[in-house]
Amino acid sequence: MSNSIFRKDGTAQGVAKQRLIESLAKPGKRVIYDPYAEKFVLGAGIIKLMGHKFSVWLSKKFAPGFHEHLISRTRFIDDLIEKSTPDKVEQYVILGAGYDSRAYRLKLPSGLKIFEVDQPEVQERKRSKLPDEIHNAENVTYVSVDFNHQSLKEQLLNAGFDESKSTVFTLEGVSQYITREALNSTLNELAVLTQNSNTTLFMSYVNSLLREDPKACFGKGYPNAAKRAKLITYGSAKVGEPWISLYSAEEIEDLLSQNRFSLTENKTLANLNSKYFTPIGRTIPENHIFKIEHFVVAKSKV
Ligand SMILES: C[S@@+](CC[C@H](N)C(=O)[O-])C[C@H]1O[C@@H](n2cnc3c(N)ncnc32)[C@H](O)[C@@H]1O
Repeated sequence: MSNSIFRKDGTAQGVAKQRLIESLAKPGKRVIYDPYAEKFVLGAGIIKLMGHKFSVWLSKKFAPGFHEHLISRTRFIDDLIEKSTPDKVEQYVILGAGYDSRAYRLKLPSGLKIFEVDQPEVQERKRSKLPDEIHNAENVTYVSVDFNHQSLKEQLLNAGFDESKSTVFTLEGVSQYITREALNSTLNELAVLTQNSNTTLFMSYVNSLLREDPKACFGKGYPNAAKRAKLITYGSAKVGEPWISLYSAEEIEDLLSQNRFSLTENKTLANLNSKYFTPIGRTIPENHIFKIEHFVVAKSKV
């Protein structure tokens, strides 16, 4: 694998690594299970040897709540997809899919058409790592797009996207890596593509308070909040994908409504702690809450 490919998939690997770690926990003790995550992560064998508890402890040393934040994001979207798809949703578009394996690991209706959108190099590596025979492969179409320079609409339509069908779109862990113009034009293209169908959109965004008031992006008493905020942004830049676009809640709501979407939910780990972690005896204490990134659901109706 060349260096340039590694640089492009650094953050996708980072998220897959947390899914691998979570999948090592015992069935009654985990929030998600992703049997494919290990295929994408360099050093997966060492992580498996270290096990769930030790790996989560190590991740806590880097930033308390970081692992749980990413895992709650995955679970929140899993729930959204499983809840929406039996109910007349016919297409699912995973924008910036990276090493997301929802298409293969969730129980989805057999008629659901799935489009995975990402950069070609990342998709190439993903396909080379997935087993040849994998559940639901016949329903998945890979669509290469660079959000910063290409038209999503054109690429999706060329790949067989049907504008008359109800669709769920997810943009998970991507908005911080693309320019504001690219996010705006992507949402604009979604609005045009879906003007004749009911649409659900999930997107995550990094709170702009991270720069202005880092403490506000963590629970009360979070250790060294400002220092950790710097470490986290530095870490992402170091693997080749700096956070270039941060947003306030108002900006996101405006951006969505300018593109015909109305926001229905805006959550962070702080809201999902009691739903996902308390039932399995892993409640995250307030001083370990990591809420830099928000999870938003929006709807548009014909
Ligand atoms: C942090 S990863 C998230 C991957 C996946 N959504 C997940 O949560 O596991 C960010 C993803 O956005 C993709 N990405 C970043 N910039 C992009 C661009 N300009 N065009 C298309 N995809 C991009 C990366 O290739 C990567 O897969």
